[in-house]
Amino acid sequence: MSAGGTGATRKRPEELRSHRWFGVDDLRAFGHRSRMLQMGFSESDFRGKPVIGIINTWSELSPCHFHFRTRAEEVKRGVWQAGGFPVELPAHPVTEQYMKPTSMLYRNMLAMETEELARSQPCDGLVLLGGCDKTPPGLVMGALSAGLPFIFVPAGPMNSGNWRGKSLGSGSDAWKYHAELRAGTITPAQWKDMEGGMARSFGTCMTAGTAATMMLAVEAMGLTLPGASSIPAADSAHPRMATESGKRIVDMVWDDETPGKLLSQGSIDNAVAATMAFGGSTNAIIHIIAMARRAGLELDLERFDAISRRVPLIANLRPNGDTWLMADFFFAGGSRAFLNRLGPHLDLTAKTVSGATLGEDIADADVFNEEIIRPLDRPLQAEGGLAVLKGSLAPRGAVIKTSAADPRLLTHTGPAVVFENYADLKKRLDDPDLEVTADSVLVMKSGGPQGGPGMPEWGMMPIPQKLLKQGVRDMVRLSDSRMSGTSYGTCVLHVAPESHVGGPLALVRDGDLIRLDVPGRRLDLLVEEAEMARRRAAWQKPAPRYARGWTAMYLEQVTQADEGCDLRFLEAGAPTPEPDIY
Ligand code: FES
Ligand code: MG
Repeated sequence: MSAGGTGATRKRPEELRSHRWFGVDDLRAFGHRSRMLQMGFSESDFRGKPVIGIINTWSELSPCHFHFRTRAEEVKRGVWQAGGFPVELPAHPVTEQYMKPTSMLYRNMLAMETEELARSQPCDGLVLLGGCDKTPPGLVMGALSAGLPFIFVPAGPMNSGNWRGKSLGSGSDAWKYHAELRAGTITPAQWKDMEGGMARSFGTCMTAGTAATMMLAVEAMGLTLPGASSIPAADSAHPRMATESGKRIVDMVWDDETPGKLLSQGSIDNAVAATMAFGGSTNAIIHIIAMARRAGLELDLERFDAISRRVPLIANLRPNGDTWLMADFFFAGGSRAFLNRLGPHLDLTAKTVSGATLGEDIADADVFNEEIIRPLDRPLQAEGGLAVLKGSLAPRGAVIKTSAADPRLLTHTGPAVVFENYADLKKRLDDPDLEVTADSVLVMKSGGPQGGPGMPEWGMMPIPQKLLKQGVRDMVRLSDSRMSGTSYGTCVLHVAPESHVGGPLALVRDGDLIRLDVPGRRLDLLVEEAEMARRRAAWQKPAPRYARGWTAMYLEQVTQADEGCDLRFLEAGAPTPEPDIY
């Protein structure tokens, strides 16, 4: 790869992919050109220039991406300046807030759409506009499969929340104050009043939740301009970053800096290390595995756990810390300073879209607040915030966010209280006759990739009301679903294989003893094998609820959590050839 436009392998205009649409002399190219003229472009606008597809996930149902209409214009400004031809391509917003049963059901749809938008049309390079939880992985997965040079432009976090002088963090404080409402310490009117203080500008959740984690992970992989992921959405640095991304992608196309040349095993490990040191969302485990597999690189749960054990948690942000939000992180030096601190745990030779190495990108970055971005020898927690468990209850793995759990419960044996699905949980959880104590392990089935479907964020099961009244605030909870990056508690998640496909979770019954041993990385169901065999023989797969459409295809193709929940046919098979143009 030629770095930074050295010209060594620079393409000629006839070698551009778009040349096949616009540059040749035949009937089809006549049509392609005349239809550009129809839109008011002159031939000098597009002919012989890199065509840059700006994949825009803007929507009026995506508050996190509400600034992308203007950001797309700012990317275009950069593309024009650098001598490219920008074209905006609207794509699925996969909005976290409004899509049901869960946005996760549609991450792979965005990935497919991104890949096919790029491949079927005259694009030479891509700029990806995303940020809300599923969009960084969805866009990157699709762009990796398309194989064209690309840059990711992260939406950036929204302004910090505030209500009556109190700082509010996305998600985390909604859970917290809802509990206060149930406890009667705030009034319904105050709770209602808080709605206006929670989300104060466009941009993503501003806690260290899934969006902040994924934007950072994509930067650590080398797929954004340096420092891009922590710039607040409403900061004037944000449109400047968008314009710079537009300029840079044009050079990347001329130099043929495809993701296959850019990404290495080090890029993937850097994304994992950054996630761990950030105390990032458990969702990142699924998404980084899915992205790595699209890039043909190695990543399994063991590698995740190994990196977690050696990397300390140094970002003091909610929900791991109790004070600071993403804007504070930005002013403390932001993602470049954070990665600089983490340097000894990163592969600094990994290449990035800047044209340099990650090490060069972060070399002169300073930390301005040592409480928010801690030194490596004064971490928030000695190991990364996430741990991977295996055992008879999760032969293919399960995960737990140790940084958000009660340390007392990390080694615990207790009897199961089993809910067959979320509806069952909702119906019975607060029943005063439910046989549950603080030592019980709440178990929920049918929350996995197929059972949910789409692994909804049901994993932070509420504490039963009668235990809340006794002062219980945390207990061991276990499921095959996910939880929000802003959630907390001793929640074992992503149990694989899931119950819906007959994993051991499907066979758990009330009263079975479950042993959680986080230091030993074990999760075991203490039931005799002979009894398990009897239960297995009697088990029946739940009846399918979706017979048609996207969901039916998803259920047929989706992989388990330890494999990244991609669709099998998107991961496997020979590369798709370039389209014929006749
Ligand atoms: Fe979009 Fe949280 S809802 S980032
Ligand atoms: Mg979320």
